[in-house]
Amino acid sequence: MKLNKSQPIGVFDSGIGGLTVANAISKLLPNEKLIYFGDTAHLPYGDKSARAIKQYSYIITDFLIEKGCKAIVIACNSATAVSYRFLHEMYKDDIHIFGVIHPVVLAVTQDESIKKIGIIGTQATVQSGVYESLFKQQKPELEITSLATPLLAPMIEAGFAPNSTIDGVLQYYINRKEFEDIDALILACTHYPLIKDKIADLLPPHVKIFDNTIYAAREVQLELQRLYLLSNKKSSENEFYVSDYTENFEQTTQIFYGEKIKLELAKIWKLS
Ligand code: DGL
Repeated sequence: MKLNKSQPIGVFDSGIGGLTVANAISKLLPNEKLIYFGDTAHLPYGDKSARAIKQYSYIITDFLIEKGCKAIVIACNSATAVSYRFLHEMYKDDIHIFGVIHPVVLAVTQDESIKKIGIIGTQATVQSGVYESLFKQQKPELEITSLATPLLAPMIEAGFAPNSTIDGVLQYYINRKEFEDIDALILACTHYPLIKDKIADLLPPHVKIFDNTIYAAREVQLELQRLYLLSNKKSSENEFYVSDYTENFEQTTQIFYGEKIKLELAKIWKLS
């Protein structure tokens, strides 16, 4: 398939949280048109099986290809963890598939001062063991501790990021022996950039906090630049789709995108 610069970039997530990634991409690449898809009908992915997440990811990717995307970014850590490899294999001759895990892993391995890493994410991400196996390939001497922190995403989505109610939950997750002498912590979930400052307050100042969204956006930029596929003029306004619409989802966009976004319902699943 011959791709051209003016085609949009597709971004998908289990729901609204992936707007943090869309936001990072649109800030770095303001000339790119984005087509976002949030699978609100199946939210959250974090406690779903790998089998279910793979099937959802495949159908959403098809939807974004139909919309004419030149590249697709899997914004969700859980979906990247279980679907990136197979989507990349399946579509590598047609379009570019990006995830949010490889770029941050590369960034961490390039920092010589980091010897021990903590990772927090959903159950699906942590259980996949993808971070561990990538670090093992890249830099086997690194010590990794991952922890599933399933209470955080729903609390952030409910608007608790600026609220002190979340502090106790964060202390419970972060102030533990396994994380005591880490040099870096990876925020392996779409939602966690919103509580980055609160997390930093709980860690010694030398601990580096890695926000996946920034590294994912940079990789998209570098790779599309390399392929002469970066757009120099935005073709039309971004589009935002969800698989289930509620007024509440639309309100929640404000939390993750910094402004309220108009969501459109895309009926890609048959809901009974
Ligand atoms: N988007 C998911 C992730 O980054 C978090 C929310 C969910 O569990 O669906 O892993």
